[in-house]
Amino acid sequence: MHDFKLKNNKLFCENVPVEKIAGEVGTPAYVYSERTLLDHFNKLKKAFAKIQPLICYSMKANSNLSICRVLAKAGAGIDIVSGGELYRARKIGVNSKKIVYASVGKTLEEIEAAVRFGILFFNVESIPEMQAINTVARRLKKKQLIAIRINPNVEARTHKYITTAKSENKFGIDIQTAKKMILSYSGEFENIEICAIHVHIGSQIEQVGPFIEALKKSVRLIEELRSKGARITHLNIGGGLGIIYNKERPQTADEYARAVMPLIEKKNLKLILEPGRFIVGNAGILLAKITYIKDTPVKRFIIIDAAMNDLLRPTLYGAYHEIIPVSCAKCEKKKKADVVGPVCESGDFLAKGRSLPLLLKSGDILAIMSAGAYGFSMSSNYNSRRRAAEILVNGDKYRIIRKRESYSDLVKNEMTA
Ligand SMILES: Cc1ncc(COP(=O)(O)O)c(C=O)c1O
Repeated sequence: MHDFKLKNNKLFCENVPVEKIAGEVGTPAYVYSERTLLDHFNKLKKAFAKIQPLICYSMKANSNLSICRVLAKAGAGIDIVSGGELYRARKIGVNSKKIVYASVGKTLEEIEAAVRFGILFFNVESIPEMQAINTVARRLKKKQLIAIRINPNVEARTHKYITTAKSENKFGIDIQTAKKMILSYSGEFENIEICAIHVHIGSQIEQVGPFIEALKKSVRLIEELRSKGARITHLNIGGGLGIIYNKERPQTADEYARAVMPLIEKKNLKLILEPGRFIVGNAGILLAKITYIKDTPVKRFIIIDAAMNDLLRPTLYGAYHEIIPVSCAKCEKKKKADVVGPVCESGDFLAKGRSLPLLLKSGDILAIMSAGAYGFSMSSNYNSRRRAAEILVNGDKYRIIRKRESYSDLVKNEMTA
């Protein structure tokens, strides 16, 4: 499942003891396993091998150039959501025809850059956006393929902040409007061609049921559209596959593929997938050093040098990340503690009421597990904290794939009055 293993009470990433990385690179630091990344990508590829989908890694989960390059070299396309992500995708040399672009608020500038680059599809989320793409494409004398992102009103059974396909969510277009839009606008706008349906219902989804409900609605829509003359060639079913953080039992890639494939086989549709978390979530950890242990009359606080600005998920979603010491000789006796950062917010915590070794002390290194997705990519400079270093391990070697920020990086775009 992943390549972070305890050997003789020491945590290794592949063949490298992570304590060595912490010692040489410092903390906080994100450490990723290349083997795990590829293993997860290949699991999906293999599960769907029969129908050869285009797997577009969802870069928002972890947009580090090296991570994306490893996946692109293995054959992945890229799912982008901004001009900045397009810039990154271009930097790593992804084939433009393997890029799909979702977002409810693509600006004219972003649209122009993507049309010029010749991306495969825009996943269009409103009528005005479709008109904007047509206008830009006309000015550039291009014809742009588009997918319509539908909002199928499906309950994804995940955290409400990462549920994206209920009617009250801002994403996609309801099925009735999408139908009218596709039938009445096809042909009307000369510089776009609607040839795909896109659906993405949320993230960290553990059961296959909601995916299938959305997929059935999508296929039904495609069949109806085709019967009325529309030419729909692709179906993009988004990402959203859940992973194990704690006690979850999410569907495997095989189970997912086995449920999805029969619904689209023989439909003459090219399938696109947009996994993010599934590929990178368990492929990364965050290393942090204990600054102080603070025992109060009420509880113990383990104060570390990583904080909510490094890993926002616990603060934002109440998300659980396993926390383990990277080296542990006498770890049997435990005591409950809140693991917190130095940021000036009571919401700055990485774990609450967690049973951790009693004998932990200042200077010990902790690993915050399963932090590869929506970890560094959601980090910030809040409290003027420098963003962490990122390291990629391959076998018994590691390399820094993002330098720790310097204090001058913090102010480089600012002017003194
Ligand atoms: C349109 C779209 N596709 C794919 C993803 C990736 O989701 P996940 O990381 O859950 O696979 C997201 C995440 O929010 C998304 O918005």
